[in-house]
Amino acid sequence: MNVNIKISKQVFNDVYLPYLENEDRYLIFYGGGSSGKSYFIAQRFIYKLLKPKRCNLLVVRQTGDTNRKSTFPLLKQVISNWNLSKHFKINESDMRIKCLLSGNEVAFAGLDDVEKIKSITFENGELTDIWVEEATETQEADINQLKVRLRGGKSKKQIVLSFNPINIQHWIKGHFIDSKLATVCFSTYKDNKFLTDDDRKALEDLKYTDEYTYNVYCLGQWGILGKTVFDARAIQNRLSNLSKPLMTGYFTYDYDGLKISNIKWVKDKNGYINIYQLPDTPHITKFAIGCDTSGEGSDFFTAHVLDAKTGNQAAVLKQQFDADLFTKQVYCLGKWYGTLKKCSQDALIGIEANFDSFPIMELQRLGYLNQYVREAQDTYTGRTEKRFGFKTTSLTRPTIISRLIEIVREETNSINDKDTLEELLTIIRNEKGRIEAPEGGHDDQMMGLAIAHHIREQVTFDIEEIRVNPQYHFNLEKSNETHYDYGEDIVIV
Ligand SMILES: Nc1ncnc2c1ncn2[C@@H]1O[C@H](COP(=O)(O)OP(=O)(O)OP(=O)(O)O)[C@@H](O)[C@H]1O
Ligand SMILES: [Mg+2]
Repeated sequence: MNVNIKISKQVFNDVYLPYLENEDRYLIFYGGGSSGKSYFIAQRFIYKLLKPKRCNLLVVRQTGDTNRKSTFPLLKQVISNWNLSKHFKINESDMRIKCLLSGNEVAFAGLDDVEKIKSITFENGELTDIWVEEATETQEADINQLKVRLRGGKSKKQIVLSFNPINIQHWIKGHFIDSKLATVCFSTYKDNKFLTDDDRKALEDLKYTDEYTYNVYCLGQWGILGKTVFDARAIQNRLSNLSKPLMTGYFTYDYDGLKISNIKWVKDKNGYINIYQLPDTPHITKFAIGCDTSGEGSDFFTAHVLDAKTGNQAAVLKQQFDADLFTKQVYCLGKWYGTLKKCSQDALIGIEANFDSFPIMELQRLGYLNQYVREAQDTYTGRTEKRFGFKTTSLTRPTIISRLIEIVREETNSINDKDTLEELLTIIRNEKGRIEAPEGGHDDQMMGLAIAHHIREQVTFDIEEIRVNPQYHFNLEKSNETHYDYGEDIVIV
């Protein structure tokens, strides 16, 4: 039987149309409340079920029962609104829907009943599609099981997940979004043309309730639970007007065992360096690079390149790799940001010295000339010495973080990197007063950026003319301050 069914584009919200035919393995719909996510996903599956191509769908929620009041009636509603009831057989007691034209089927289950999920079969062919509704209610291990369930077979497979962004630290964000594993469609109530003015007002009025509810359900922003150290409102505002990086990629170079040469920037959207300000920005500036090395409780290396004059975040590197490879990428960054026509000096690099002094020594071995110098007391001789790298201590750590708290509040627009801003939102003060990432979280971006801001004060702008207003009279006295001998050898710790 040949049936001609026409569905007008008008019945869909525009924001979702590009995803109607999407075949990527993982497809995510997330955002504020009432944006039409669930409705569109239901429309999309009815559309897919009608087609002759195999589409056997399993609709999953954390608890199976909840399907009866949400996803099951929603799919039936779309069938009836599109006048397609005669083409579908609906089994109310078993909660099954079958398209009589294609033989495609829908089953419903809860992750609370693993046995049932395992035993579900379809009359025609294998399971091809899974829709996890309100996916933030689920556990990562259960979703991993579903991924396994969909493996193998000949047909094209897809998992669709829908949810509100209830918690910035939710596993789903790291697993599917930050990793770029999933194709993502973001929407808010503003994208839903079917809402009434009253519906819209109800969502906008959430601003009179608490900030969390308003941010998540009206604006569709990732929710922050608990008290944050950094100014959450300033960060959220910044996150909503961020631009994409100018480029993403990494460096390639030749290495003969001693020296690095032939440095080249490679554009690659899966690269680990994001560029927000190019080295050849026309005004005269210099750059400072702060680096946090991977160590206890953290697997990432980060490097933050700052325009030393303005504090603007020019580039961010974040990657899990071996210390030598990290050092070589940082070397390239430093050279790249030092090759300005008017400024022939390498960018100033300050690497955290606590866990591993290897990158600091390696950078010196490679002949990199501009490393951050700190003053350190030699525990044996008591003499003040100069050493490369930034040492995090119980004194320096709170100091550089306090400065960063101020920068985030007062100069939020100088931070351009989404991942950095999102990490800052998660940072909390524990019961002992220590500022840190919550369990399972990270503080590598915070530390990299804080170190970068700290070391940029060591950048000098000798090419600038310094004018002293003659009306002031300076009465300079010879002070007794410690006189540092800048000719002293630098000792690597
Ligand atoms: N294409 C559509 N045609 C008709 N009505 C629609 C359409 N899309 C959405 N709606 C209406 O908008 C309302 C909100 O849509 P929906 O429930 O799909 O939003 P949601 O993004 O899933 O919300 P939540 O985040 O709260 O789950 C629905 O009750 C539905 O009536
Ligand atoms: Mg919904």
